Amino acid sequence: MSISNKNFRDLKPAEFIECFQKTRRETLKTLKIFREILGSELRIPNLTEANLPIWEFCHVGWFYERWIVRNTRCSFDKSYDLSVDWDNFCRDRTHFKDADSIFDSSKIEHNARWDRNLPTFYETLDYLRKTRDAVIEKIETNSPETDEAFYFYKLSLAHEMMHLEAFKMTAQILNFEIPGLRSKYLNLDFCSESSFLSFNEQTISPYYENYAFHFDNEIFNGETTLKPFKIQSSCVSLKSFLDFLLSDDFLNASFWSKEGKIWLSTSFYKKSFYKNIKKEFKKLTDIDSEFVKIKWFGKDENLRLNLPALHVSFYEAEAYAKWVGMRLPTELEWLLASQNTNFHWGDVWEWTSNTFSEPPDFVPHPYKDYSKPWFDGQHKTVKGASFATCENFRNLHFRNFYKPNRMDIFSGFRTACFV
Ligand SMILES: [Fe+2]
Repeated sequence: MSISNKNFRDLKPAEFIECFQKTRRETLKTLKIFREILGSELRIPNLTEANLPIWEFCHVGWFYERWIVRNTRCSFDKSYDLSVDWDNFCRDRTHFKDADSIFDSSKIEHNARWDRNLPTFYETLDYLRKTRDAVIEKIETNSPETDEAFYFYKLSLAHEMMHLEAFKMTAQILNFEIPGLRSKYLNLDFCSESSFLSFNEQTISPYYENYAFHFDNEIFNGETTLKPFKIQSSCVSLKSFLDFLLSDDFLNASFWSKEGKIWLSTSFYKKSFYKNIKKEFKKLTDIDSEFVKIKWFGKDENLRLNLPALHVSFYEAEAYAKWVGMRLPTELEWLLASQNTNFHWGDVWEWTSNTFSEPPDFVPHPYKDYSKPWFDGQHKTVKGASFATCENFRNLHFRNFYKPNRMDIFSGFRTACFV
């Protein structure tokens, strides 16, 4: 049996343990890398985009405690458990004293995490090991077989895998290396000459019922009809994006949305991954024809121009699409197109034109803050996966969401248009 890239949604109990142990090994390895670089307290300045690492590592362990180890009703049936108050089914005892008052992301807001009395590196290591053993003991005792009995196990594993990618984003922001990660992007087998795939009018349902696990924001009733459209078969390359960035048109207001113009004038030269290229070069022919030098994970890196554009904000993606007479695809166009075998995805996360919003008939699942707080009109839906995403997490139906100004994520985009 190999779980190498089997999606976490479809894991059987024995496979779950294997995947969970693999994921936890990576978390512990990452914790040790962070400690080597940041010192034993793993302290960093308070940044909007990054969590305080020691808090985040413990939060990963706490999540399993909250929803599996301490959960006296460790089963969730979406057809009749939706009104349950899950606080009534959580035992007090934890492997870390006062864990709820420190590691509960719903109660301790971002800025407050820096002021908490946080554990040491060794306490964190110990907490992650104890919660790992407690989860394995619980799964071996309970042998969850049904999707309902498996729900919280899969939710917690997915949560850990999401934070694992967030740790990689944090390392990139803080300019240090995660061994083996950069080469996953640098060695992507990627073709910059992207063809278009065309689709006739079609009615689709975005909800794939056959999965054994769903996040609450993936559940839809009904279908949607899409107008005929065409979409790039792969993402926009660095070369194509730099063509725009280094052209006179880049600062032309007509290509930017109202919010995009504000971002361009206030944030581009402070934050964009490409700000130095824009400062240093007038046009693409001024730089080496095959590579561009850029600081990435703290190192000067020669990026091949035929790699997919990376660390692109939504605003930059939107402006580029307009510049080439296209637009960003909608989330459903992306999903429909992904069924085509020539649709290449998974190298970088992809911005869509959709604002992440509450679907009709939406009902939050027990971990209420997974989606609901983010239906605030401030986030864009992001599809796909990136070279930094855990293999067992990648899924076409997954709906990610980020604020449009974010560039620390491993994000790119492709373009589309109506035909
Ligand atoms: Fe979390």
